[in-house]
Amino acid sequence: MDKKIIAPSLLAADFANLQQDIEMVNNSEADWFHIDIMDGVFVPNISFGMPVLKAITAHAQKTIDVHLMIVDPDRYIKTFADLGAHNLTVHYEACTHLHRTLQAIKAEGMTAGVALNPHTNINLLEDIINDIDLVLIMSVNPGFGGQSFIENTYDKVKALKELINRKGAHTIIEIDGGVSSENAKELIDAGADVLVAGSFIFQSDNPTKTIKELNELIG
Ligand code: DX5
Ligand code: ZN
Repeated sequence: MDKKIIAPSLLAADFANLQQDIEMVNNSEADWFHIDIMDGVFVPNISFGMPVLKAITAHAQKTIDVHLMIVDPDRYIKTFADLGAHNLTVHYEACTHLHRTLQAIKAEGMTAGVALNPHTNINLLEDIINDIDLVLIMSVNPGFGGQSFIENTYDKVKALKELINRKGAHTIIEIDGGVSSENAKELIDAGADVLVAGSFIFQSDNPTKTIKELNELIG
């Protein structure tokens, strides 16, 4: 993928002024909305659910990238498609029949992503990589925004990129957690295509400018 993607994570947005933050992203140089759904079981936190996602997609004018941090995600694939998700990412660690889950996501007209926790080896995807549109590498332990970036991520991205090339796959690589101007360029150089950023964008003084600067850094 030539154009590198910036995906602000709405987990770090101001939920009392969500529409304002959505408009900010609409009018910015960001490409996707990253939406984190947590169930309090797969991860030790609960974010938000369907009614909030419905409100978001009513205003969002860019690609809706949904990251499911939930057990047994198959139960909700159709629901997320109906709510307007364009990409649906499930966790490797949460799926017993991952191949079947990916087919079900695609059958609903979405692209299919697989997320890996920091301890999960990329080689576990070897037999299925050609079926995956996107691999999300967690660069923090999932569940919370604002955590420190795990340095081993660079090697993981490089190894995954090698696997993708070796298998002739068209899978894109997304990085999620602790992304900032400190690591963005190195992540792209390692092979990343999509950078998710929550706190770095929404807790900055001027989020629109922060997105623009990130974009210039990786462009
Ligand atoms: C964490 C979520 C991330 C989170 C990133 O479980 O998947 O998308 O919002 O937040 P930052 O960029 O603050 O680390
Ligand atoms: Zn996420």
